[in-house]
Amino acid sequence: MTKKLFVKTFGCQMNVYDSARMVDLMRTLGFEETNSPEDADMIIFNTCHIREKASEKIFSELGRFRPLKEERRKQGRDLILVVAGCVVQAESEEFMNRAKFVDIALGPQTYHRLPEMLCRLEQKRKQRIIDVEFPAVAKFDSLPQACSNGVSSFLAIQEGCDRFCSYCVVPYTRGAEYSRSLKEIVAEARQLAETGTKDLMLLGQNVNAWHGEGLDGKPSDLSRLVAAVAEIDGIERIRYVTSYPSDFTDDMIAMHRDIPKVMPYLHLPIQSGSDRILKKMNRRYTRAEYEEIVAKLRAARPDIALSSDFIVGFPEETDEDFEQTMDLVRRVTFAQSYSFKYSARPGTPAAAMKNQVPEDVKTERLERLQALLIEQHAAYNAAFLGKETEILLEENAKKEGFLLGHTPQMQNVIIKAPESVLGQIIRVRIIKTAATTLDGELV
Ligand code: 5AD
Ligand code: SF4
Repeated sequence: MTKKLFVKTFGCQMNVYDSARMVDLMRTLGFEETNSPEDADMIIFNTCHIREKASEKIFSELGRFRPLKEERRKQGRDLILVVAGCVVQAESEEFMNRAKFVDIALGPQTYHRLPEMLCRLEQKRKQRIIDVEFPAVAKFDSLPQACSNGVSSFLAIQEGCDRFCSYCVVPYTRGAEYSRSLKEIVAEARQLAETGTKDLMLLGQNVNAWHGEGLDGKPSDLSRLVAAVAEIDGIERIRYVTSYPSDFTDDMIAMHRDIPKVMPYLHLPIQSGSDRILKKMNRRYTRAEYEEIVAKLRAARPDIALSSDFIVGFPEETDEDFEQTMDLVRRVTFAQSYSFKYSARPGTPAAAMKNQVPEDVKTERLERLQALLIEQHAAYNAAFLGKETEILLEENAKKEGFLLGHTPQMQNVIIKAPESVLGQIIRVRIIKTAATTLDGELV
């Protein structure tokens, strides 16, 4: 009988990717994925630590599985609870103390050792296992390779970060920057293309810091890697997240102009529009430098959609600093964005800074910023009304009889169409728009 595995993922796209790889790995041990935790023999929580709210939510959700586990024990069966990801990495001891019913806790660098941990758990029933090392063998080398079942796939090309922004836990939870080899990436992309992938999202915490040896043996960067992936038949669309502004080069700008498969979409977080705050965040660029990249990108690819992340209420952020963020947003204009209140993460330099901003001030600033951003997203989408565009149909929409696809600019489009056209790129006319979704009709 196959055993059932339920996975719940929190946080970033890297976590979504890692979860898929853990499912693949567990499949080799006879586990099948299920959508209902009640049926599961094993539950994996893949956690996120980037903001405080995320980790609190995990503790409360985990608590819900405790009675289920106890009930199973009474029946003489078991429910193995595994917690993975960045929360575990950051606070493994505190974590295991708070969640006594968790069997295995593993950090993002040790997923490939999960089968071995399961085996150890079976041998010594009562012992709980914690594994949060940064092993010398990168997990990329030992996890199963391709992991895609649809037309859109993620492919992690880089992990970790050496930037040490003063608010961020990633350099501590994900470790030092590590780039996979170009050969490996191209081979995996080819395999994905052969199994139906048309849309490829290259993933990394600092994706444009990717570096390695090209096929010619010379040093290579993201622009060359993307050019190599673009050669693969079947891959029609290429995107990459997340980019760091000062690692963004003219060659990367040029690839948006020169390689048609590179989609007109870029997620380039600025975080703040105030140079003073950028400096305190240890972001190594100025607002003027950011605006210059944007100007060059728009010259190279006028239809490019820009997306960004913002943090409001960073320590010492004054009204004046915040107004500069508002001003930056008005000047640049974004098609999409994510904005957050600053959240102090233990162990990061910013958590120890004086003049933390009061919660109510953060709330008010976030509301004002989000109102402006939503207005911009809506205006951006409204400009597509009545126009024709191409969408790749990726999955069934929630609404019966409708499919969901994405435009080259990464907008969601809902369209009434038969399931048989899933996986195809089709021309549509946009008939209705809103801040997050467009309605289309077949042309
Ligand atoms: N507080 C608030 N937002 C944060 N981010 C990262 N760390 C923090 C923090 N401590 C945001 C940044 C980053 C995104 C993934 O999460 O905007 O780009
Ligand atoms: Fe965190 Fe900064 Fe690295 Fe992004 S660039 S992962 S915000 S340290």
